Amino acid sequence: MKPINVGLLGLGTVGGGTLTVLRRNQEEIARRAGREIRVTHAAVRNVERAHAKYAAEGLSITDDAELIVNHPDIDIVVELIGGISPAKELVLTAIANGKHVVTANKALIAKYGNEIFARAQQQGVMVAFEAAVGGGIPIIKAIREGLAANRIEWLAGIINGTCNFILSKMREEGRPFEEVLKEAQARGYAEADPTFDIEGIDAAHKITILSAIAFGVPMQFDAAHIEGIAQLQAADIRYAEELGYRVKLLGITKRHPHGIELRVHPTLIPARRLIANVEGVMNAVLVKGDAVGATLYYGAGAGAEPTASAVVADLVDVTRLHTADPNHRVPHLAFQPDRLVDLKVLPMAEVESAYYLRMRALDRPGVLADVARILADLDISIEAVIQKEPAEGADQTDVVMLTHRVQERAIDQAIARIEALPSIEGRVVRLRVEALNG
Ligand code: HSE
Repeated sequence: MKPINVGLLGLGTVGGGTLTVLRRNQEEIARRAGREIRVTHAAVRNVERAHAKYAAEGLSITDDAELIVNHPDIDIVVELIGGISPAKELVLTAIANGKHVVTANKALIAKYGNEIFARAQQQGVMVAFEAAVGGGIPIIKAIREGLAANRIEWLAGIINGTCNFILSKMREEGRPFEEVLKEAQARGYAEADPTFDIEGIDAAHKITILSAIAFGVPMQFDAAHIEGIAQLQAADIRYAEELGYRVKLLGITKRHPHGIELRVHPTLIPARRLIANVEGVMNAVLVKGDAVGATLYYGAGAGAEPTASAVVADLVDVTRLHTADPNHRVPHLAFQPDRLVDLKVLPMAEVESAYYLRMRALDRPGVLADVARILADLDISIEAVIQKEPAEGADQTDVVMLTHRVQERAIDQAIARIEALPSIEGRVVRLRVEALNG
């Protein structure tokens, strides 16, 4: 059978990894796909540099991305440019020209996936995006196909390697946030704009995608609640550890009868959970289905070859299915497009969680009793308390509390009242706690 022709948009880390993996494993891949997968074209910004690096690959290199999305001989366009523009326009042109698309672009899918999939459906082409979430972990395929028997209840993931690397180093080595961030950037983990990582935006793109395929709802990135790790203090990582917890940046999505939770924030999770022990740049996603129970997927969430592993897996899927009746393909969002449900994202005030609270309190009688009374009045039950001896000569100390599960609305009210107490100095630090116990 004649080879299937692929055009790459972008030949950076992941594009280079894709060429390497396709070359090294070409026979295994052809045995699986039923025909050779051949990269014939690549569009890059700097043609000279790409020529020097990839001269031996025998592909045509251009700085004109339009040429690739309009080329009559190209069957599949692989979009590895990232960002929204021009990636979106190029992907839509490729689709309009009847080409299948493979993309690693989480921002594009999370923000414009609804429009892109609708156009792809009209044109009878596939848009595959395994590499957009969790790098080499086949999490899209696992949720969309492997768990197809289940009603998925919730999903929680460490899906930003940069943040996990920073949090691991801060905990293990007691190093400050800024210093570890620089190391993550130097190692090439961070996004081009690292605020996407540390502000939780990258993780929000990814959890938006996972939420859509888990529950069969449209992408709702704009409704996601997003908190990053930049405000996190070393003291809270330490206190969390004393209480038997690790702090992780989690993407969380849960199904309720009248809506879904969609949120990204630093979260205390019990240190004994497998997922709490995912360290460094690694990613992991915990998925709870009603039949299978809790399942955990772990692996490299970024990097040239791990991400290429997902890109090439998509290329194999598209190659196998491109002659199939479009109605017999796996739907983009796992559920048939006319069977998606309009479950809205719940406001945070309605989300239920346990909480970690840290406050700076005057060391005098009745302070803890005042705080406990505020919590009791709002029906918030305390699970654990740590109070440190004040430092030599100081009259203030840290009080740390864990609460039982309660609606966020109640904890917000409690914090406002605690902060108004004359015996409490400054703001109360509030972090959410998830048991993740299936
Ligand atoms: N910046 C991302 C991360 C890369 O740190 O996980 C992969 O999406």
